[in-house]
Formats: sequence, structure tokens, C-alpha cells
Amino acid sequence: MQDPVTLTVKNGIATVLIDNPPVNALGHQVRVGLRDAAARIGDDTQIRAAVIMGRSRFSAGADIREFGSDIAGPSHSEVFNQIEGLMKPVVAAIDVTALGGGAELAMACHYRIATPTARIGFPEVKLGILPGAGGTQRLPRLIGAEAALDMMLSGKPITAAKALELGLVDKLSGDADLLAQALRLATEMMNFDSPLPRSSTRDARIKEDRADKELFARIRSRNARAMRHLLAPEAIIRCVEAAVTLPFEEGVRVEKAESGRLMASDQAKALSHVFFAMRQTAKIPDVPAHTPVKPINSVGVIGAGTMGGGIAMNFANVGIPVTMVEVKAEALDRGLSVIIRNYENTAAKGKLTQEQVDRRLSAITGTLAMDDLAHCDLIIEAVFESMEIKEQVFSQLDRIAKPGAVLASNTSFLDIDHIAGFTKRPDDVLGLHFFSPANVMPLLEVVRGEQTSNTVLATAMKLSRQIGKTPVLARVCDGFIANRLMLPYLVNAQEMLVEGTSMEEIDAAMTDYGFAMGPISLLDLVGLDVVTFPGEIKLTEELVKQERRGQKLNGGFYDYDDRRRATPSPAALAVIDDVRQRRGIRGDRRRQPEEIVTGLLYPVINEGAQTLDEGIALRSGDIDVTAILGYNWPDFTGGPMCWADQHGLARIVDGLKKMGHTPAPLLTRLAREGGSFSG
Ligand code: 3HC
Ligand code: NAI
Repeated sequence: MQDPVTLTVKNGIATVLIDNPPVNALGHQVRVGLRDAAARIGDDTQIRAAVIMGRSRFSAGADIREFGSDIAGPSHSEVFNQIEGLMKPVVAAIDVTALGGGAELAMACHYRIATPTARIGFPEVKLGILPGAGGTQRLPRLIGAEAALDMMLSGKPITAAKALELGLVDKLSGDADLLAQALRLATEMMNFDSPLPRSSTRDARIKEDRADKELFARIRSRNARAMRHLLAPEAIIRCVEAAVTLPFEEGVRVEKAESGRLMASDQAKALSHVFFAMRQTAKIPDVPAHTPVKPINSVGVIGAGTMGGGIAMNFANVGIPVTMVEVKAEALDRGLSVIIRNYENTAAKGKLTQEQVDRRLSAITGTLAMDDLAHCDLIIEAVFESMEIKEQVFSQLDRIAKPGAVLASNTSFLDIDHIAGFTKRPDDVLGLHFFSPANVMPLLEVVRGEQTSNTVLATAMKLSRQIGKTPVLARVCDGFIANRLMLPYLVNAQEMLVEGTSMEEIDAAMTDYGFAMGPISLLDLVGLDVVTFPGEIKLTEELVKQERRGQKLNGGFYDYDDRRRATPSPAALAVIDDVRQRRGIRGDRRRQPEEIVTGLLYPVINEGAQTLDEGIALRSGDIDVTAILGYNWPDFTGGPMCWADQHGLARIVDGLKKMGHTPAPLLTRLAREGGSFSG
């Protein structure tokens, strides 16, 4: 392995290069390299100034793989303090990204120069931690507490221009070579006879902040909603309060204590699990990374209903032309007008220009003739959920589609192998299961049939990224991963209703757990006519018979006023009562919030374990990503399987038995052996 940090000296200036692919993370070897480089800069009388830069990018921060174990010294803070304490000017030359510890390293340098396209940010909050190497203390001193908190609480990177405006960088490099300009700056500074500017000793900004007595109350109230459930944001605010009120060293002590507490928290462990799980999903062990992919330069979508329109928009958004087929002109017009309205709404919010809208719309062509799909590289079917209709469509496609075209179904539940059997090219067939609204939801379930070829799978994985979705691979089963997992959740929520817990209690318990909405509100949002539930629960069916289809039509379990505020509907309460009477249930079993949470989540974990055991999902992390992206499962819990590992598998097995469920064999085995889903 080449040295992750090298130092070369020319004309009295040391260039320190971090070279640790793929993202120049500041792992142990890099910290050792930077420490040694700093020592040499300090000791070597030939060196009068230094530039620190990274190959291909500055740095993406700490090596997240080191989290969760004892991090070997030197620590980030030790290295950064050593650099800041040098008596010779050090310039950070920032290209592409300086994130987290990378941005902290830059702040420890005396000067910062960035390319115009560089981005600087503190994404720690997204990992449930905080900038813990002096970042919470240096950043407010450089740019003021409010701007510092905006950056650290949002985790969003800012542009170099914004960083210049805020005082986070001193100079932009313009179009010229970054290193050349950084060296020039270093030369100027080594001949400049005044004390070196150190972020830790600046206090002009902090003095202004000290005078603003409402500052932290304002920040807390502005972020209250986003901070709910999360540990890191409040800890970050406390650190910045310390930066404003205490000397640097004391502030650093507060930061260290808060950072240690966060690092050890379940939330931080869960969020770094999610970080890596999100990047794993596209990797399929038996489909090598270099598997050739098919070029997809034109897409066909069959059906312009709820899903078809959104699916088409995904491709139009990235400049791939789409042909959309319908059976009737009215359905096509309706579908196209929904697309137009969607784009216009986005433009009205200032997120698209009229020119972009026009370009995207011109990429979508509507037709009533299936034959018009003959040229398409990929054809996605999104017609009614009926095997008979899928048979008609796929038999027709087999005749029409060009050889080698990828044929996909957006079915929610039906058997992809059965569908592939309607063609003479089952190796080109797979499921591409989008989530509603398909132009918004970030998940794509890629369903692998028995005969789907590796090339087709690799193509789907790549294409998914191209349209901005995270792909998760599923094997064929009823409901694949996402719907199969969440079916017990929605069934049991309704069962609890019938047994006597109110809809508000059920929803509140789950929003307190971290979901944006509870299961009963979710049913209303999705539409009561969309899913049919097995077993005795017929609540949604009864409500649909009364033309109550959820938020979209006449309300569902709740009635909605014109501001979408929900109140339990008397009609729904009557339906629940009626079901109770027919089933001979008294309806007086009220559950406490904790019992609601475990009663709804344990069966989901059980289903997840079964899904994993059957090989429907490749990894427990894939199930977590599916739940987080497909069902807004709160990411700070790590997803259902990660939460289960933290919660305790033996506890879940006991709980399931008490609830009268049979624990899945994999769950039972892991609980017995003290194992975990994540291995
Ligand atoms: N540590 C370890 N591995 C990292 C990493 C990090 N900080 N950042 C990225 N990687 C890995 C990814 O896991 C991936 O590995 P793989 O190829 O084996 O799957 C590889 O690098 C490439 O990453 P991406 O697929 O995400 O590449 P992109 O080009 O899409 O994005 C990026 C690059 C914007 C840098 C993105 O990777 C990113 O946001 N990284 C995380 C940045 C971050 O959160 N930094 C803060 C760390 S915490 C910290 O610094 C604490 C400090 O206070 C001490
Ligand atoms: P939809 O009823 O809104 O739209 C289906 C459209 O297909 C209708 O406009 C219909 O006219 C058209 N159609 C029917 N037969 C056709 C044919 N032979 N040729 C061309 N067009 C035809 O249905 P929706 O909700 O869009 O669902 C479509 C598929 O997507 C189903 O398989 C469903 O299970 C699946 N799905 C639905 C989700 C949802 O939330 N609605 C989520 C994920 C998948």
C-alpha cells in the first residue's frame, strides 16, 4: 500500500498530500501520517510554510469504519491541535469536499483556499454524532454561532462561495491550479510578519454572539421539530453554547464529553449502520461488479395511472425519452395532465425552471399503440394488479419488444416468475417495484426472477442510481421485502383497533417511537382501496364499501377538514363496532404505548427474519434500508432489524410467544446463540 500521507518540500514549502482512496477518510494511518508531517514541518528548518491537500478531494472526514471500537491514537484533535499550534503558516487547499473531520482539519490550518466547486460541510449529525475534533469550538469562532449551528444541525454542505462569504475560507482559487495558488498563498504568508491566525483564538464573532441573549432559544425553537427524537442536535447546541461562553479549552472539554456520550449511543450506532447499509444494497454477491450492463437510452411505460406517470417522470428527469402507453385516450390524457401538473407545481416552488419543465415534458410521449414500444431498451409495465391483464401485456410485449430489451413489471405482489413465463425470454424479465409517489420515493425494489440474467440485474442496479433511487434486491415472494414486511404492521394495528385501543393512541405511540405518521393515518394516506388484508380484519373493505377511501376520497378511519386535520370518523367507529359485534369481541383491551410499539414491531421483525432466512432479502441491512426508504421507518433506529439487535432478540422471541405468534426459526436460533441479524 502506498503511503497515505506524503510530504515533499520545494522552495521552502512543504506539500502534504493525503492519498487514501476512495474518499481520503482520516483513518489511523492518515492521522499518523499527518502527525509525522506536522512534526517535520515544525522541526525542519528548511521548511518555512506548508500546504495540506488531498488527492482527488480534500477529505470526507473521519473513517466511519473505526466507530464503535477504541480508536487508536493519535486522535483527530491531537493532530489538528498540533497543526494549528505550528509556528509556520499552514494552508489548507480544498478541492471537491471537506466534510466532517476533513473540514475540522481545514479549520485547524491557518489559511484556507478552496476551488469554486468545492463543498464544505459537517454531516456528523446525520451519523448521530457531532464534529468532535474541535469543530464545534472552531466553527462558531470563524463564522458565528448561528451560521455554525445552521451547518452542524442540518449536516448539509455549503458551496465554496458561501464559505467565503461566511469566512470559513479565505480565498477561492478561481479557475487556475489549486495547488499553485495555495503555494503562492503560503509563500506570501511565510514572508508576512504578523501572528498566524488561529481559529481557536479568534473571538470577534463569539463576542457578538454573547450579546445576543435570545440566540439559543431561537435556534432550539426553530429546530424543535427536526430535533425531536434525536440526541445529536441538542448536544451540538450545548457545545456551541460552551464555545460562546467559555474559553476554547473548556469548550473543548464540553465537546469531548458530549461527543463521547453520542458515540456510545444506540442512535450513532444505528445511523452508521444505515450509512453503510445504504451503500451495500447495490452489491449482489453472485453478480460481479464488472458485469456488463445494457445501455438504456429509451424507456417504455405501460399504464399511465398512479404509478405509470411517476415512473415515466423519473426517466424524463434524467433526459431518457419515455413512451407511455394506455388503453384509452381519456386515461392517457388524465395521466399526462397529472405529469404536467406535477412539474408545474415543482416549478411554482422554484425548484425547476420553465425550460427544464419543457425539456422534461418533451421527453414523454403518450400513445395508444403498444407497437410504439418496439424501439425501447427497457419497458416497465404498470397496469392493473391482475395476473390476467399482466398475461395479456407480457405476451404482447414478447412479440413487440426488440430482442434484448429489458422487460419489467411494477407489480406489488404478483409472481415475477409466472409473469416471465408469459414470454420466451424470461432472462430479460424482472420486477422493478417503485413506491408511490414513484417520482418522489427514493427506493426501488429490484425483483430477481429465477431466470433473470446477471446483465439485466446489473443494468437495473446501475439505472436505479442514475434515476436517484437506492436499489434493494429482492427474490420472488408475496409482497417482496417491503410489502411483506409491513403487512403484519398494518394488520396488527387494525386488530388493536378492534380489540379496543383507539386510533389516536395507536398513531401517537408510533409517532412517539419516531415514525412521521402512525399506521392508521398511513392507511388513510395510502388509500384504503389499495391493499386487501388477509384474515378476519375487514375494516378497510367495509370503509371502502361506504366510499371512504382515505384522504383522497371522503376520509377513511379519520375525517379530514380542509387543512387536513384529522379527527376519528364516527362512520369508522361504527364499522369498528360492527366488526367487534360480528366477531364477539368486547373491545375493551386498551394498550399502553410500549405495548402498542412492541405489539406492532415484533411481528415485523419476525417477518423480516423469515424473509432473510428464505433468501428473499440478501442482508438484514437491505431490509432496514427498504423499511427506511420505502416506509419512512425512522432512520435513527437503524431500521427494524438493527433496532431488533439493539432491543434484544431474546426479548422479542419471548414477546412474540406471549402474543401467540410463532417466532421464526432464524430469530429463535440467533436469540438462543446470542447472535444478531447484522452478524
Ligand atoms: N469513512 C469510511 N468510508 C467512507 C467514508 C468515511 N467517512 N465516506 C465514504 N466512505 C466509503 C463508502 O462506504 C464507499 O465505500 P464502498 O465503495 O466500499 O461502498 C466509498 O467510500 C465511496 O462512498 P460513496 O459511495 O458515498 O461515494 P460518493 O462519491 O457517492 O460520495 C461522499 C462521497 C460525499 C464523500 C460520501 O461518501 C459521504 O458523504 N461520506 C461521508 C462523509 C461523512 O459523513 N463524514 C463525516 C464523518 S464523521 C467525522 O468526520 C467525525 C469528526 O468530527 C472527527
Ligand atoms: P392504476 O389503476 O392507477 O393505473 C393502471 C393503469 O393501467 C390505468 O390507467 C389503466 O387504464 C392502465 N391499463 C390497464 N390495462 C392496460 C393495458 N393493457 N395497456 C395499457 N394500459 C393499461 O394502478 P396503479 O396504482 O398505478 O398500479 C399499477 C401497478 O403498480 C399495479 O401492478 C400495482 O400493484 C403496482 N403498484 C402500485 C402502487 C400504488 O401505490 N398504487 C405501488 C407500487 C406498485
